[in-house]
Amino acid sequence: MSESSPPNIQALLDEQRTFPPSEQFTRTANVRDRAVYDEAAADPEAFWKAQAEQLEWIEPFHTVLEWNPPHAKWFVGGKLNAAVNCVDRHVRNGRRNKAAIVWEGEPGDRRTLTYFDLQREVNLAANVLKSLGVKRGDRVAMYMPLIPELAIAMLACARIGAIHSVVFGGFSAEALADRINDSQCTLLVTADGGYRRGSLLPLKQIADEALKHTPSIKNVLIVKRDSSDRFPVHVTEGRDHWYHRIVQDVQAWCEPESMDSEDMLYILYTSGTTGKPKGIVHTTGGYLTGTMATTRAVFDLKDDDVYWCTADIGWVTGHSYVVYGPLAAGATLLMYEGAPDWPERDRFWSLIERHGVTIFYTAPTAIRAFMRWGTELPQKHDLSSIRLLGSVGEPINPEAWMWYHEFIGGQRCPIVDTWWQTETGQIMITPLPGLTTTKPGSATHPFPGISVQIRNERGEPVTEGGGLLTISRPWPAMLRGIYGDPERYAATYWSKWKDNAYFAGDGARVDADGCIWLLGRVDDVLNVSGHRIGTMEVESALVDHPAVAEAAVVGRSHDIKGQSITAFVTLKDGQRPSTGLEHELRGHVVKKIGALARPEEIHFAADLPKTRSGKIMRRLLRDIAEGKAIGDTTTLADPNVVARLKSQYENQE
Ligand code: WTA
Repeated sequence: MSESSPPNIQALLDEQRTFPPSEQFTRTANVRDRAVYDEAAADPEAFWKAQAEQLEWIEPFHTVLEWNPPHAKWFVGGKLNAAVNCVDRHVRNGRRNKAAIVWEGEPGDRRTLTYFDLQREVNLAANVLKSLGVKRGDRVAMYMPLIPELAIAMLACARIGAIHSVVFGGFSAEALADRINDSQCTLLVTADGGYRRGSLLPLKQIADEALKHTPSIKNVLIVKRDSSDRFPVHVTEGRDHWYHRIVQDVQAWCEPESMDSEDMLYILYTSGTTGKPKGIVHTTGGYLTGTMATTRAVFDLKDDDVYWCTADIGWVTGHSYVVYGPLAAGATLLMYEGAPDWPERDRFWSLIERHGVTIFYTAPTAIRAFMRWGTELPQKHDLSSIRLLGSVGEPINPEAWMWYHEFIGGQRCPIVDTWWQTETGQIMITPLPGLTTTKPGSATHPFPGISVQIRNERGEPVTEGGGLLTISRPWPAMLRGIYGDPERYAATYWSKWKDNAYFAGDGARVDADGCIWLLGRVDDVLNVSGHRIGTMEVESALVDHPAVAEAAVVGRSHDIKGQSITAFVTLKDGQRPSTGLEHELRGHVVKKIGALARPEEIHFAADLPKTRSGKIMRRLLRDIAEGKAIGDTTTLADPNVVARLKSQYENQE
């Protein structure tokens, strides 16, 4: 059923082992009363209201939820400021000198910011934004390495009511320009560069390419990451400003804006089933409520924890579970700039040991790489500080789950496998570590107050078996729209079912115990190393090359990445396949999107399999790429195309 199945589906379906929470964990867990599930199910709005009341409101909300499908408003009438909730509130309430951000750069440089430090930095940055003319409601793009200044810049936007749009530093200049233009950002915050595997990624240089095509940008703010000046930065007079200089001229205090609960907090672009990424819109009150409540309950966060989510802030996991959720909950969080294998493949374990990490949240693709690198590496380090493990981004196969449990968790730590999406903003399906009996490979149950159904194609709920993952009631951190495209919002998420339920795009199965097993995307979205990439995006990048006539992109199961990108291309008349051209096409995709979308395999084909109405049948191409028996070809215009492709493919392998 799924267009793109994760590895080891069968292993997943055969999995029988269960892991109940230990008594010791349950005794002190933040959530240890099972009644929370029933209470929240009986009255979800009352449940979320109680969560929202733990935030600091400038004016209280009068209505929990207004639902005019597909448009929801949460905590209506309430006024608050996200930066105040993530920072000032803690400074005032006993966490002034607590470490908020413990940061380590890839070369080994370190910084710690207390909540007081963070407050000072956010205030200064907010005044810098204002001094450059940024106003409430303006969009600010960010193209940054994983350094504290990125979180500071996001919170500075929140403080003055500006909307941030963070673009992952691995995206290319063209991808950055497209995102800036889509939401008409007026300021870009970037850095000279960031470290990745020992070298500096020259972000400002890449941004300069993008800035040739972004007329809305009036100013550029450059954070100096690299003190060695090895990478000269070109400063365009009047437009570009060094942060460390301009910050000298601003006041220390910036009065926070009073924001409506439904004012936009940020835009984050993600891939969908068309060539154009979607600017997912998140607002303030519901988003903070959802991320804070889940951070506390799912990660069992306590005041003395050292919490580490390894995601880059450029993805939603970084927004919700590096920045907003943990800071709203008053956590001490670790941020690490670089690669897990730099300078050695035990960098993560040495970080955990050095900083005494207690909660560790990472992606299955990383776990599978660690498995391959061997158990000696974690065993060289004292990982006994860890008390809880998390997984996110793609289905975790039972083997990886068991390895994580045994070699990182020392068989004593609960694992929370958390399913959610850029669109959901917050964790939706997850164990609660003090309550849930886990099964390797299952995300188990919906979070309290979240209504999930697995439905068959007719829309009927499946009580046991496979179907499509559906969310049948609105939830606080849900997306409020796609920036500038209300029709696409309604069509993509809310029109699959007749009853205004949300269609997630994932396949799932529910077992006899009511545990949910995620089975991967059912649409044309790939998940490569936990990164979401649209097949159409890669196809548009390929056909943009002058030699290419047509392209079809499919995902192929990959032991470590989950999926890898396989492209089939036909060439224009007069063009001939060659290794040189293959390299060129890969390079072209990297230029259009970024290295994360580089096709692992490119196959030149004489024809692509199409239906009689001309639609490319990717399903058959995936069968070919995966070496499977070819499915039904009766709807093809020319069945010979597939046979030819298959024999050509097998000869190449
Ligand atoms: C997949 C990342 C299985 C899923 C937070 C979803 C998962 C997509 C899990 C969203 C999980 C995420 N188990 N699959 N625990 N978590 N996914 O928007 O296919 O980058 O639709 O958000 O990742 O990816 P996104």
